[in-house]
Formats: sequence, structure tokens, C-alpha cells
Amino acid sequence: MDNRPIGVFDSGLGGLTGVRELRRRLPNEDIVYFGDTGRVPYGSRSPETILQYARQDIAFLLSQNVKCIMAACGTVSSTYPAREAEALPVPYLGVVNAAAREAAFVTRSRRIGVIGTAATIRSRSYETLLRRLVPGAEITAKACPMFVPLVENGYVEDGNPVTRLIIEEYLTSIREAGVDTLILGCTHYPLIKGMIGQFMGPQVNLIDPGQAAAHELEQLLSQKGLRADRTNTGTARFFVSDTPDGFVQMADLFLGEYRGGPVEQIAIDKY
Ligand code: DGL
Repeated sequence: MDNRPIGVFDSGLGGLTGVRELRRRLPNEDIVYFGDTGRVPYGSRSPETILQYARQDIAFLLSQNVKCIMAACGTVSSTYPAREAEALPVPYLGVVNAAAREAAFVTRSRRIGVIGTAATIRSRSYETLLRRLVPGAEITAKACPMFVPLVENGYVEDGNPVTRLIIEEYLTSIREAGVDTLILGCTHYPLIKGMIGQFMGPQVNLIDPGQAAAHELEQLLSQKGLRADRTNTGTARFFVSDTPDGFVQMADLFLGEYRGGPVEQIAIDKY
């Protein structure tokens, strides 16, 4: 048993989609969330910069005495080296591994689509893993950089004509490839999952990495005897690197049912 908090981080507030799932699955766990709102987006940056940011984000969470770390960001999870993760003093879990394993489990045709930020697709993180997990896999990958600003500007309601047009622009080649599974490899994409699903068709499984990672984290905590006491009422504390103004509005979008909780600004450069 371990009542220390779970540490979750993302380049911004998109990682709250993973927090939502963690709270649903693990209501007794305390959570410390860090969103690097002062330096978002990560997805258009170089691997060196993303790595430097990720190390600082992790150092901050470790300073909060977390018992494990979940990298909710697809871009970080694609860039942060496994050997560095293994050397951390607490267990680390990235969304990419969890989502790739779920995709490998559900695909029947072995035709898998992957969408994410430019950095995620360039890293080939999903392709490398999927080829190992699914021999003979045919993978169609595509960067969809305009999805993040669309979601952040609230273009998420079903049938939004702008979002529908961009979905068609990005996903036509993936639909034509006949995939039966599509990994939504970025924190923001689950917010337009309904529209993506309508475009791809009901026969295509959509994988939400935040959900997959929350599921794996639950298993990992149980295996390692790190679950919180059942009497613990899980609380969440939020930290950001830019002003917390507007946090509640964005948190509502990503977290669904933002129940309040302190939001603090920190100087991430110090870590
Ligand atoms: N959190 C990022 C991801 O999941 C998307 C936003 C960004 O580019 O920083 O890849």
C-alpha cells in the first residue's frame, strides 16, 4: 500500500484526458498533474528540446514525492528513451507502449493507422513497437498538426464543419488503406473521437492512449503493491508553467467534470 500521489504530466492540458480515466478507475488515488502550458506545444519541436523539457517535467514531479509517473503526452512518450525511464527512481509509464499493446490486441487485419503530432510521427515510435508486437503489420502513419489548435479553440462539437473538413483532409489516405484499428496518438484527439469515428466507419477500432495507459497503470500499481488505501479519498493537485487563468475552462473541456482543486503556477526552468 502506498498513499503517495500518482504523477502525470503533459505538454499542456490535453493530458487531463488521461487524468479523467485515472480518476474513474482509481478513485482512491491522489494525483499530481503538471501541464507545461508555458512551453506548449511540444509536437512541433526538435527531439533535443522535447527531451530537455521532459527531463524537467519529470524532475518536478519527483520533487512532489510521486510513487510513479505517467507521461500522458504522445510526443514525450515517443521521444523519452526507455533506458532513461528505466533508471528513474519510480516506475514510469508512457502512453505509446500502452496504446501500441492495445492496438496489437484488437487488430484482426493487421492494418493499423497511427495519427499524432509531427514529432510523434517522425520518431516512428509506434511503428517500431507495432512491428515488434504484430508481425507483418501494415502501418499507415500521418501527422495531423492542425487537430491540436482546433481542439484548443473548442472546435469539438459533433458535426463541426471546419473540423470535419480537416478530418477528411488528414484521414482519407488512412481510410483508403483499409485499417481496422486507428491509434489516436495525441492527447487532444480523443476530444474529436466521435467525428473521427464517423469518418472512419464503425468497423474501425479507435485506440485512446490515455485510456490504455490508465488501464496499464492500474495493473502496474497492483502488481507492485503501490495502490492507495481504500479509505483514501483521491484528491488532485494541478500545476502549470504559465498563468492559471483560463485553466478551469480548458480543464472542463479535457477533464469533463473538473471538480476544482488547487492550481498553482511553477517555474519549470528551475528543475
Ligand atoms: N500533448 C501533445 C501530444 O500528445 C500535443 C500537444 C503538443 O504538441 O504539445 O502529443
